[in-house]
Amino acid sequence: MSEDASRKSVDALSEAEARRELARLAMEIGHHDALYFREDAPEISDAAYDALRRRNEEIEARFPALKRSDSPSERVGVQAKSGFGKIRHAIPMLSLGNAFSDEEVGEFLARVKRFLGLGAEDAVAVFAEPKIDGLSASLRYENGRLVHAATRGDGTEGEDVTRNMLTLDDVPESLPGRDWPDVLEVRGEVYMRKADFFDLNARQEARGAKSFANPRNAAAGSLRQIDPKVTADRPLRFFGYAWGEVSRPLGETQEATRAALADLGFRLNEPAACCRSLDAMLDYYARIERERADLDFDIDGVVYKVNRLDWQQRLGQVSRAPRWAIAHKFAAEKAETRVNEIKVQVGRTGALTPVAELEPVTVGGVVVSRATLHNADEIERLGVKAGDRVRIQRAGDVIPQVLEVTEDGGGDPFDFPSACPVCGSDVEREEGEVVWRCTGGLICDAQAVERLKHFVSRDAFDIEGMGTKVIEEFWTDRLIRQPADIFRLDEQADAIQARDGWAAQKVRNLLAAIDARKTIPLDRFIYALGVRHVGQATAKLLARSYGAYEAWRAAMERVSAERKAAPDETKKPERVGEAYAELTDIDTVGMAAADSLAAFFGEPHNLDVLDALAEELTIEDAAAPAAEGSPVAGKTVVFTGSLERMTRSEAKARAESMGAKVSGSVSKKTDYVVVGADAGSKARKAEELGVAILSEDDWLALLDGTAPQDAAGNADGDQERAQGSLL
Ligand code: IVH
Repeated sequence: MSEDASRKSVDALSEAEARRELARLAMEIGHHDALYFREDAPEISDAAYDALRRRNEEIEARFPALKRSDSPSERVGVQAKSGFGKIRHAIPMLSLGNAFSDEEVGEFLARVKRFLGLGAEDAVAVFAEPKIDGLSASLRYENGRLVHAATRGDGTEGEDVTRNMLTLDDVPESLPGRDWPDVLEVRGEVYMRKADFFDLNARQEARGAKSFANPRNAAAGSLRQIDPKVTADRPLRFFGYAWGEVSRPLGETQEATRAALADLGFRLNEPAACCRSLDAMLDYYARIERERADLDFDIDGVVYKVNRLDWQQRLGQVSRAPRWAIAHKFAAEKAETRVNEIKVQVGRTGALTPVAELEPVTVGGVVVSRATLHNADEIERLGVKAGDRVRIQRAGDVIPQVLEVTEDGGGDPFDFPSACPVCGSDVEREEGEVVWRCTGGLICDAQAVERLKHFVSRDAFDIEGMGTKVIEEFWTDRLIRQPADIFRLDEQADAIQARDGWAAQKVRNLLAAIDARKTIPLDRFIYALGVRHVGQATAKLLARSYGAYEAWRAAMERVSAERKAAPDETKKPERVGEAYAELTDIDTVGMAAADSLAAFFGEPHNLDVLDALAEELTIEDAAAPAAEGSPVAGKTVVFTGSLERMTRSEAKARAESMGAKVSGSVSKKTDYVVVGADAGSKARKAEELGVAILSEDDWLALLDGTAPQDAAGNADGDQERAQGSLL
C-alpha cells in the first residue's frame, strides 16, 4: 500500500496515504542525511535527494495539518548537518586547569589554602580520582526520570544526545528508589574500555569500515551518531564523577556525593582516594601511574578535588575552570623521527612560527607529521636543521614539540626569514619579545585568512560547516575577504553551488548555519575579532563591563585616542587617560591588552571592517552571569583595608560572580567602598566623593539580601564571624 503511495502524484494522495508518505519521507531523508553528512557516503544522487525533499514539502503544502514534528522541512540545514539539537546547560560545564609537575600540585594546594584563609599547616582533604580520556556529558533527571542528555559542547551549550545516551547500560532511564533530588544533573565521562575498543576495531575492519585511532575517538564517534541504533551497537560506558544543577545536595563532600551517585546506579571511576596531604596526593598519583596499563580504560592523569563542598562553593571558578580542582597530567609520550624540512607559518596576529615537517611517526597512538619549533630562539637553542633526527613529544591535545636533536644530519643551519614568507613585508620583533611578526597587517593574506579562521572557530562564531578548508577555498576564490562577507554569502549561493563538492543541500546547510549566527552574544563577537591579547576570558570581562556593543565600541575609540595622545613610554594607565584607566581597571585586563585594543581601534581599516560586520548582525548585550536578582549586579565596588571574614581574592571572586565590577581605585563611578581594618586613603577619598561606605558585614548582608543591621544585627554578625573563623 505505502509502496503504491510513494509512486502516486501528490495531488492523488488520500489523507491517510499522505500521512504514511510523510512518515516514510522523514525516515528516508533522515537516513540519507546521515549517510551524506556523517558517513560521507551518500547512496543516492543529489538530484534524487532534492526530489525527496521537494515531495515532502509539496505534501506538507497540501496537508498542512499532517506536518510532522520531526519533519525534514523543519530540520533546516544546521540541524540536519549536526544532527542534534542544542541544549543549554543549567550550570556551565567547566574544564580543568592542568598541573604537569609535583611543584604545580603543591602550588595548587597552597593556592586553595591561601584563598580559604587557612594556614600552610592546616589540612585540606582532597579527593583524588583517575582522569578518564573520554568525552564529558551531562544527564538531567527530573523527578527521577532522564529528561535529557547533552555533550559538553562549548561548556555553555552542548548537543542533545539523549536518545544515544539512553542506549548505554550505565545510564539509567529512571533512578531507583525514591531518595533522589527532584532535579539532578549527573555529569561524567562517556568512554570505551580498551578491550571493547580493540573488538570494535576488529569488527570495523572486517566490514571494511574505518577503524578508530584510540578509545577516545571511538567513544566520541560512536556517541555522535545520528542513528541511535548505531550507538546502541557500540560498547559505550559512562562514569559519574560530578554534577550540575541539583535541587538538594547529595552529600557534604565529594566523597559522600560519589557514594550517593553509586547508590543511584552510576558507575564510578576507581580507584579513587581521599588524600589529607600533598604527599598523599603525590603517592596516589604515583600509584595510578604504575597501575595505568592494567586499568581497563584509558586515562591521561588524575584529578584532585577539594573534598568539602562548602569549600568548593567558596573557591568558585576562574574563567572556565574551578579553583577547587586540578588535573595532574601524566608525562607526555615521546618518539624519535627525522626533520624533512623547516617551514615558517604566519599566524593571525602576524607571528612567524617555524614548524618542523617530520617523517610521520606514531606517538601515543596518533600519527604525527609536524611539530612546532615555537620561534627563532628555540631553533637556535635546539640547533635543529633539516635532515636531523629529533626526539619529539606529544601531550594530550597540545601541538607536538621538538625536545632535542638526537643525530646531526649535517645540513645547513636554518636561516630565519627577514621578510614575511607570505606577503614579503618586513618582520619586526618587539622589545623583550621572542616572536618575530609580519608588519603587513591585513595586506598579508596569511594574517587575513587566519583571522577569518579564528572568526568562525568554535569559541567565536562557531559556524558549522565553515572550517579552515572552506575558509581557505573561499578566500582564494575571493568569495570572502572580510568577516562581513560571510554574512552576505547567500547572495553567492549559485557561485558556491557551482563548485566541486558543493551539492545544493550542502550549500543550504552552510547558509542556514551562517544565518543561525546572525545574532551573537557580545563576548563572542569581541573574541572573534582576534585582537591580540584579547582571549575568551578577557572578551567576557569586556562584554560584562561595557554591556552593549555601541558602548564598548565608543569606549575603545576613546581608549585609542587617549593612547595616541600619550607619550609611548607612559606606564601608568591613569596618565594615559580616563577611558584607558577604566579599561585597565577591569580585572586581568593589563596594559598589553589595552594597547592592542587601542592599536586595533586606531586603524581606520579595522573600523570599516567592524561597521560592515555590525550591520549584518544583531549583537546581544551582555548580562552579568548569576546576576539575575543580584543586589549588586552592575555595581562597582572597591575593597580596601584588611578583611576579616574572607580573603581579598575570595571577596573579589564572590562580588564578580554576583555581577559586580571590582575596581582598584575609588572614583565618582564607584558605588560601594567596603572598608576593612586599617583602611587608608581610599576610604577618605570615598568620603570626599560621597560614595557609600560599607563595613565587611554590611557588604555580606547586602549580598545575602538580609536587612541592614541595627545594633543587635551587628552582634549577630560578630557571632557569625566567630563561627566563620573556625572553618
Ligand atoms: S571533574 C568542574 N573529574 O577532563 C570539574 N573531569 O580536562 C569538572 N575528566 O571536561 C570535571 N576525568 O571531561 C572531572 N575524574 C574526572 C575526570 C574529568 C576526566 C574530563 C572532563 C573535563 C576534562 C577537563
